[in-house]
Amino acid sequence: MSEPLTIAVSKGRILEEALPLLARAGIVPREDPARSRRLVLETSRPDVRLLVIRAADVPTYVRHGAAELGIAGRDVLLEQGSEGLYVPLDLGIARCRMMVAGRPGAEIPRRRLRVATKYVNVTRRHYAAKGEQVEIIKLYGSMELAPLVGLADRIVDLVDTGRTLAANGLAPLEHIADISSRLVVNRAAMKVRNAAVRALVAELERAVTADAPAAEGAAHG
Ligand code: ATP
Ligand code: PRP
Repeated sequence: MSEPLTIAVSKGRILEEALPLLARAGIVPREDPARSRRLVLETSRPDVRLLVIRAADVPTYVRHGAAELGIAGRDVLLEQGSEGLYVPLDLGIARCRMMVAGRPGAEIPRRRLRVATKYVNVTRRHYAAKGEQVEIIKLYGSMELAPLVGLADRIVDLVDTGRTLAANGLAPLEHIADISSRLVVNRAAMKVRNAAVRALVAELERAVTADAPAAEGAAHG
């Protein structure tokens, strides 16, 4: 048999939500990924294995061909760009919104607005499109803290329920993008291993659409 196809996926939210989807395509990890310390997981399908890595590293592994496929948040793709990648499928998981947030009613400073975020490129583009000059402060997490301690006037971060914003006295101010996880495919693998890659993409597509009516039914009762 030829080499297995490798899917890069991040531990935590994306893996949790991807597991039922992968299971519908007959892909079940041989060990519990939440417990295992292994970073390469064999699955019930000998032709598919998983790499468990940091969310922001998924495009890098796939772009360089270390994994033929990956599951990446659209936030990560917007920030890093999709060079060297095909993005054939919206998996519809890990849905949220990328937003500008700040303290409601806070005075607008006379100096340039300071915006704290880990999405520096998206933030730069967002304010450039509005013709606003801002100072961007790069953070690696817990952005909600920055306005509380005077580090920044605004943040650009992901919002789902809005609970994290509310718990820190912040409110959503501007919508930047709707986010969900996307299947990404190495462009060279798409050519060299065309049949196998296309078959797997088609199976995952069926797994996504198989979920849609059930999810709708659940939403209506
Ligand atoms: P790391 O743990 O490696 O630092 P991270 O904190 O970005 O990365 P997660 O919080 O698991 O990792 O987020 C992974 C992806 O899940 C994000 O890139 C985004 O696409 C999505 N995501 C993040 N927060 C939410 C949320 N609150 N609701 C839904 N999806 C989210
Ligand atoms: C994400 C995001 C927000 C929060 C939003 O953080 O960075 O802080 O979720 O979700 P909410 O609107 O439902 O409160 P996460 O929980 O992933 O924590 P981390 O990225 O800081 O690990």
